[in-house]
Amino acid sequence: MQELEQILDGALKTFAALEDAAALENAKARYLGKEGSLTGLLKGLGKLSAEERPAVGARINQVKQQIEAALQARRDTIQQQALQQKLAAEALDVTLPGRGVGVGGLHPVTRTLERIETLFHSIGYAVAEGPEIESDFYNFTALNIPEDHPARAMHDTFYIDEQHVLRTHTSPIQIRYMQAHLEKYKHLEAMPDIRIIAPGRVYRVDSDATHSPMFHQVEGLWIGERVSFADLKGVIADFLKNYFETEDMQVRFRPSFFPFTEPSAEMDMSWNGGWLEIGGCGMVHPNVLKHVGIDSEKYIGFAFGVGVERLAMLRYGVNDLRLFFENDLQFLKQFNS
Ligand code: DAH
Repeated sequence: MQELEQILDGALKTFAALEDAAALENAKARYLGKEGSLTGLLKGLGKLSAEERPAVGARINQVKQQIEAALQARRDTIQQQALQQKLAAEALDVTLPGRGVGVGGLHPVTRTLERIETLFHSIGYAVAEGPEIESDFYNFTALNIPEDHPARAMHDTFYIDEQHVLRTHTSPIQIRYMQAHLEKYKHLEAMPDIRIIAPGRVYRVDSDATHSPMFHQVEGLWIGERVSFADLKGVIADFLKNYFETEDMQVRFRPSFFPFTEPSAEMDMSWNGGWLEIGGCGMVHPNVLKHVGIDSEKYIGFAFGVGVERLAMLRYGVNDLRLFFENDLQFLKQFNS
């Protein structure tokens, strides 16, 4: 009987000292398992006399129940502790401010393009596009640019192969659009006016604070039966006033030369007391109309090309073109408040 009390005492102490569920189950085996000490005592009951057996047996069963109860209590405690630890480790402070989702914004060049498109849309211009890898024909030949023109030189133009270039301007879109327009309306006696702008990336072998090997242009084209240089001046002057949101805007046209226009001009706008060049323009050269099959005796029109980064720099006060293409978020975020 004394041995029984020792077993009980040992079991209670052992269980209380254990902190780990697996160790507890191992300890259980030492008392209640097949080879356990209590099981051993139960097996020994047979050796006792008939008088002694009931009392000893009852006491063994009692101790067994006590050990089982202590075991279960300890299991529950260990499980509770593990749960508390887990909860503490995974604690979530729901009162903390949220991390927030980074909201994207438009690139300043994209904003400028959208602004230009909106303004021209409002006076009835459609937006046309063309491929960035362009054939020699569309980029040069159809635009009346002769074989020996300096723009065709390797050091100015990125050649893909002998027949293809990365387009050096958006002017080839004029040709593509005129061809498609003519085809679309060939069943009509008189061709409806063409009134488009054509924005896009262009490429040149050039790189410094005001030149990037890739930049953007917007081409403009209006072809009809009675389109004049005065219309060109009016459209450009109006556009610049609206774009810069000022009536106080002077526009100057300087005689110039482009193979695809005759006469040709450079367009300047007043800026800080001086003049700034913003692009080229002119009346579309009859050879260009002939190349696409438009009757140059019946139709006439103007074209222009402006640099988009230049307009973005002036509107936003950016002094280095390269900033637009460095993907520095600190710079770019300023345009999206
Ligand atoms: N394509 C010319 C350039 O990249 C710009 C230009 C000048 C476009 C005169 C025109 C134009 O449509 O009429 O420098």
